[in-house]
Amino acid sequence: MSLPKLNRSWLLACALPLFLSACGSKDAGGGDATRGRELYTKECAACHSLSASTENAPMHCGLFGRKAGTVAGFPYSEAMRSSGWVWNEKTLDEFLSAPYLTLPGTIMGFPGFSQEADRADVIAYLKEVSKDPSQCGK
Ligand code: HEC
Repeated sequence: MSLPKLNRSWLLACALPLFLSACGSKDAGGGDATRGRELYTKECAACHSLSASTENAPMHCGLFGRKAGTVAGFPYSEAMRSSGWVWNEKTLDEFLSAPYLTLPGTIMGFPGFSQEADRADVIAYLKEVSKDPSQCGK
């Protein structure tokens, strides 16, 4: 019957990309935080800092579990403030894939990571440090 065919398409659709963490549960946290730190330093730290907001971007300490657009004093876009997002693996993955497309009206000047692995790694890093007192100075 069509079972073998189904299995094969499952293999292609899920088992293969699983190694790139596409079909796996993101909540399982497949990202590489060490590589994520490098990406963060290169791609995000020009604007963002963990411990304090800059005039360019809101701070990232406490990010996980925080409602989007709620760091006091940072002038977010209306889009961010009314996004309804709470930051977790899923919302970060969506936002960081293409900020201008997934959150039209955002003022974040970053084109996005098209590679799933890049997003997973940066998210793993953010998850690790966003609640770490030694990184956040709190
Ligand atoms: C050119 C400066 C710039 C760069 C580079 C940048 N950001 Fe941002 N980021 C911003 C600004 C500005 C905002 C506020 C966006 C808004 O209000 O629409 C923001 C908001 C965010 C938010 C939401 C924070 C909150 O408090 O709700 C996250 C998460 C985020 N950025 C992650 C990242 C990551 C991860 C990178 C690197 C891959 C990155 N950003 C690169 C400027 C930047």
